[in-house]
Amino acid sequence: MAPRPTPADKFSFGLWTVGWQARDPFGDATRPELDPVEAVNRLAELGAYGITFHDDDLVPFGVDAATRDQHIARFRKALDETGLVVPMVTTNLFNHPVFKDGGFTSNDRDVRRYALRKVLRNVDLAAELGASTFVMWGGREGSEYDVAKDVRAALDRYREAVDLLTQYVIDRGYNLRFALEPKPNEPRGDILLPTVGHALAFISQLAHPELVGLNPEVGHEQMAGLNYAHGIAQALWQGKLFHLDLNGQRGVKYDQDLVFGHGDLMNAFALVDLLENGGPNGGPTYDGPRHFDYKPSRTEDMAGVWASAAANMSTYLLLKERAAAFRADPEVAEALAASKVAELSTPTLRPGEGYDDLLADRSAFEEFDVDAVAARGFGFVRLNQLAVEHLLGAR
Ligand code: GCO
Ligand code: MN
Ligand code: MN
Repeated sequence: MAPRPTPADKFSFGLWTVGWQARDPFGDATRPELDPVEAVNRLAELGAYGITFHDDDLVPFGVDAATRDQHIARFRKALDETGLVVPMVTTNLFNHPVFKDGGFTSNDRDVRRYALRKVLRNVDLAAELGASTFVMWGGREGSEYDVAKDVRAALDRYREAVDLLTQYVIDRGYNLRFALEPKPNEPRGDILLPTVGHALAFISQLAHPELVGLNPEVGHEQMAGLNYAHGIAQALWQGKLFHLDLNGQRGVKYDQDLVFGHGDLMNAFALVDLLENGGPNGGPTYDGPRHFDYKPSRTEDMAGVWASAAANMSTYLLLKERAAAFRADPEVAEALAASKVAELSTPTLRPGEGYDDLLADRSAFEEFDVDAVAARGFGFVRLNQLAVEHLLGAR
């Protein structure tokens, strides 16, 4: 039996996920438009706690101020009625043709100024709705042609934009932090800040790095051939996991945005174990929203959309159960010890020891039996098989 989610599980969904009409580069929409109010109601019924959106998901691009207010008021009413919250808001700087060369880093300065105004307006709305995270996915910030983009200038402009936004939230007194979402490509041939690592390095160059963290997405790291759970672990290690986008991806190909767990299930298991239990040796966990950024496949009708939304949550909860059972199994504890997994948490030097002491320690080098130690196995395969058995419900 799949476990049923409750708001305490902190599951949230983008309005653009369940609302995706399944238009792709090769075909038309296969589903009708979804009213944001219905999305709120259905997600609440399914046990979610939050909903997120791009400005243009909630308010059609270009409508007048009065119409905008009406859309927001209807949405707020649905939130109040259901108790659903808005933990995160983001801005669409990719759909309108004006952003074809990007928003913050378009070669056209007028576009960059317009993009900043669009984001500032949406930052006000995010604060008004009580969001604490503002995601920035720069899907159009990039290029197809190396000779057409000065990447260093583009990074200067990206930094200029983020510095302006952080100063704005400080001056306005908003309780809002920014989360950059890396992606290697699609829709641009090459997107700036393509991976968790690039984005972390970029943050170190900002005026207010404390207000800027990450929103890593499962599929995006995997599109770059990278290990998502490793990226999340490093983001946690650096105190930069502000938010995350859970979904599924099968290998290095176009962005699939499958249901969470429908891609690399073993890595999803490791991820949930990391988020819930702090991974192999405990350590800081993540207490933010478990946010799904997936696309219900084009083959699905509306019933399939809601079934897929529920599938994200139940898969997460099943993995959480499986991870708890794995951690509680005495045989796993024994295998972890045999693999010396906890020993990695012991500092390599003794307290107060420096290189002089290490150089004087003959047991560390001159008398170290390299061949005997090299001959010892670590037993990682046995440990991993125990994880597989737990994952398959065999233990
Ligand atoms: C993608 C992206 C987007 C962003 C979202 C937030 O699938 O390429 O994940 O869905 O997360 O647009 O800006
Ligand atoms: Mn994606
Ligand atoms: Mn995303």
